[in-house]
Amino acid sequence: MKRFISIIAIATIILAAMTHGAAAQRQVTPLNDNWKFSFGHALSFEKNFMAGTRYFNYLTKTGYGDGPAAMDFDDRYWRNVTIPHDWAVEVPFAPDASHSHGYKTVGYAYPEHSIGWYRRRLSIPQSDFGKKISLLFEGIFRNSEVWVNGFYLGNEQSGYLDFQYDITDYINYGGDNVITVKADATLEEGWFYEGAGIYRNVWLVKTDPVHIDKDGIFATTNINGDNADLDIRVRILNEDHKTHDVSLAITVKDAKNRAVQSVTVPAYTVRGNYMHDYFKQLKINNIKLWSPASPVLYSVEVKVITDGNETDKTTTRIGFRTVEFTSDNGLNINGQHLKIVGVNIHQDFAGVGCAVTKPLQIERVKMLKSWGFNAIRTSHNPVNIDLLDVCDSLGVLVLEETRLEGINDYHKSQLRRMIERDRNHPCIIAWSVGNEEWQIESNIFGERITRTIQAYAKTIDSTRMYTVAVSGGCGYGSSESIELMGFNYMAQCDIPKFRTNHPHLPGWLTEETSGCGARGIYHADSARCHIPQFDRAGGTSIERGYKFCMEQQWMAGLFYWTGFDYRGESTPFSYPANGSYFGILDQCGFPKDAAYYILANNSTKPLVHIFPHWNHKGHEGEQIDLWVYSNCDEVELIVNKESLGKQKTPKYGHAAWQVEYKPGTIAVNGYRNGAIVAQETISTTGEADRLSLKSNKLIFDKKKDDIILVEVDANDSKDNVVPDANNKVTFSITGPGEIIGVGNGDPSCLENDREYEQAFGLKINALQELTVKDLNNWQAEIEAAAPSDWRAPLAYDRKERWDYYHDTLLVVKAEFTIDDFANNAKFTLFSKSILLDQDISINDTKIASGIKRDAPQQYALDRSILRPGKNVVYYVGKKIRKAYEWDEPNTDLGVVGEKIPAAQYSRSLFSGKALVVIKTNGKPGTVTLTAQSNGLKDAKISIK
Ligand code: GAL
Repeated sequence: MKRFISIIAIATIILAAMTHGAAAQRQVTPLNDNWKFSFGHALSFEKNFMAGTRYFNYLTKTGYGDGPAAMDFDDRYWRNVTIPHDWAVEVPFAPDASHSHGYKTVGYAYPEHSIGWYRRRLSIPQSDFGKKISLLFEGIFRNSEVWVNGFYLGNEQSGYLDFQYDITDYINYGGDNVITVKADATLEEGWFYEGAGIYRNVWLVKTDPVHIDKDGIFATTNINGDNADLDIRVRILNEDHKTHDVSLAITVKDAKNRAVQSVTVPAYTVRGNYMHDYFKQLKINNIKLWSPASPVLYSVEVKVITDGNETDKTTTRIGFRTVEFTSDNGLNINGQHLKIVGVNIHQDFAGVGCAVTKPLQIERVKMLKSWGFNAIRTSHNPVNIDLLDVCDSLGVLVLEETRLEGINDYHKSQLRRMIERDRNHPCIIAWSVGNEEWQIESNIFGERITRTIQAYAKTIDSTRMYTVAVSGGCGYGSSESIELMGFNYMAQCDIPKFRTNHPHLPGWLTEETSGCGARGIYHADSARCHIPQFDRAGGTSIERGYKFCMEQQWMAGLFYWTGFDYRGESTPFSYPANGSYFGILDQCGFPKDAAYYILANNSTKPLVHIFPHWNHKGHEGEQIDLWVYSNCDEVELIVNKESLGKQKTPKYGHAAWQVEYKPGTIAVNGYRNGAIVAQETISTTGEADRLSLKSNKLIFDKKKDDIILVEVDANDSKDNVVPDANNKVTFSITGPGEIIGVGNGDPSCLENDREYEQAFGLKINALQELTVKDLNNWQAEIEAAAPSDWRAPLAYDRKERWDYYHDTLLVVKAEFTIDDFANNAKFTLFSKSILLDQDISINDTKIASGIKRDAPQQYALDRSILRPGKNVVYYVGKKIRKAYEWDEPNTDLGVVGEKIPAAQYSRSLFSGKALVVIKTNGKPGTVTLTAQSNGLKDAKISIK
């Protein structure tokens, strides 16, 4: 049976503003900068800033957010961070932390690293009054709660979904506003590294009250030859109290932004606080199809005309293509057979964890494409929307997966929101409703649940097929109700038998073994947790799945486990191993040998790749396996200038020799029709002598944040790359960019990925007060005082007159403790007024005098006035007169902030390589990175 899907896709919504009449236009502004961050605590209310402990809290009374959610909470000492931010990549490793999350000290055993608080100020001008204003979070890991000005906005449990909160009514127009976000990463959603915190973009969205709903456009096509019917559904929200006449103007534009079709959808009278769905069918002629080879994108512009005025406009990219999974011919795209050669990927990348910006997504997808892959499975969660935009543009197919299979609101809402957000992307060819749900996949529960959730999903998108990835029990359970069978590993299912019993079911390998090993490692070393690249299955596993898929015409293809190594799942090792070995590329994107297997099989350009390298000190005289991946007819091995003969290159296989190791040179020639068409030579190198740097780009984008990836190698004195160098390298940078992470692809490296400024708040406590007679002589008076003269501070007795105290002169004494008087720590007093025109002294030194109550009160403290351990602080002045009897006087003296500056970035080379990730800041200039290592010549690279 053939299944035919015809879809159109809409990618990023590009939102433009254009005024027409008095109506408000859509404005979408990034809110990624200027956030403050601090850890809270998952088990201690005290260390969690007493959040939720007030008599009335944010759930009892509207607007009663306390702790960091309160507007006046003091975050002055918190760290500054930029979104995307992943705190899990920053915290240390520990042997008893979660194996699946790469031994990062986050989770139930590390309550001190499991709650993260973020705060950001926001100013909204008076002129915005009357607009609808909301915050859009693309994803927070996880269990986030958000407040604005103390008003609770909501909770999102999943770390993988976007969500938008309306804040219109909570805003101080023309004044100050505070956004507070709490993320709780105590619980894991996946069994792989997931990061922690606001690791995807945040946006401020302003629209007219009459506007297009979030994910409110859905377009599908029916393609007939060169022409297509384009069905567009637009959901309009009228969030005004009044009724409005709303019409739409729709323009379809081609890749060159030329209008190819414009229509208006007649006005409909939309009641106040109501919505309306508009449907329009357009005919588009002479379409250019979207395909992996030619990813042509169109766009659909929808203007909303309210009572004659344009009130909203969105522009959305689309692509025309057909996707057809057949049970006899696998996958057809636009009627052409195409075999999926894909990979599974998780979200993280070297150095930055899950905080991957769009330019870095572009690099990741380009890397995969450059090795011949044409598809990605987003195991096992909805992805960063940037990745889908990139796949649309670069022509990479995507299977997107929901996180957890089930039929209740939790599961259905996750699936629905994923599909509604992403169903217009041309790159998405199918949805996955689950992965290896062991409790259900091979029994009746799986059969039922999969049937129900698939039918539910069809009501949201019926243009694509649904798959589920099954790891066993094929022929029972989920596999009996799914329409597109997903096999996880040939070894876990008798696919030929299944095929015999299910001849009408299309299918693919949603996971298949890639091989397993650490890049550049060829000798097992269990002490360092290094598996050699000739993997545990004898090295041929990458070939097995490939051969099978290619030979089974009915199979749509395969997704290798995995494209990149990822943090976590360091199977078969435990700590200090903290990263997986499954990648065809390592965590930095550096290729393992298996990448050349894929390239050889997916490129017409002649290629030979011989491995291992020829530096095997200590293995002299041993027989070494030499393998060649090639797409030539024959390959010839030459060892120290002596030919060991030619071998035919087996289809989907490799050529192999065993050679006794002695330092020297090995070369391989690739022949087609008897002529040499490709060559590779590798020699035993000398010791590392110099560093060498190369970058993915020589020119960076000056208009917005960009990413520069710099590969670090060590060369010998003849400039050969030393493949086993492991020198430690330090990095420094100048110009409009900063290093945001380093990596080396070593799955057991415990070095820091990120260096960052750490910030702590030292509590000022043990308050006592003493009444004095003369503010100029308070030191003498406190010396003369007996301990019993000191009282609890700043108490106002309600029985007495409330304005009675205004002439009382006070010394308030308190303490703070410096536990870590680290050499490079910097201290700042962030004080608050507790007395009128107060003076402040610390230990024996006056810090400030006559402080006005509205002063910023931030004082850098010279280390010479401080001491390790206990420090004493004195606030001296007149007691503040209460304005009203019921006023609660301030007893908060502020806090001493301690900042430890970021250390210099460094990383050891692993198998000769390391990677530096640089983020530029949208300003012009030249970024220069310098690399230094003891005993090696420095290297410098400049990117303009
Ligand atoms: C699969 C699973 C993946 C990963 C892999 C490791 O069973 O779906 O997420 O855990 O095994 O081998």
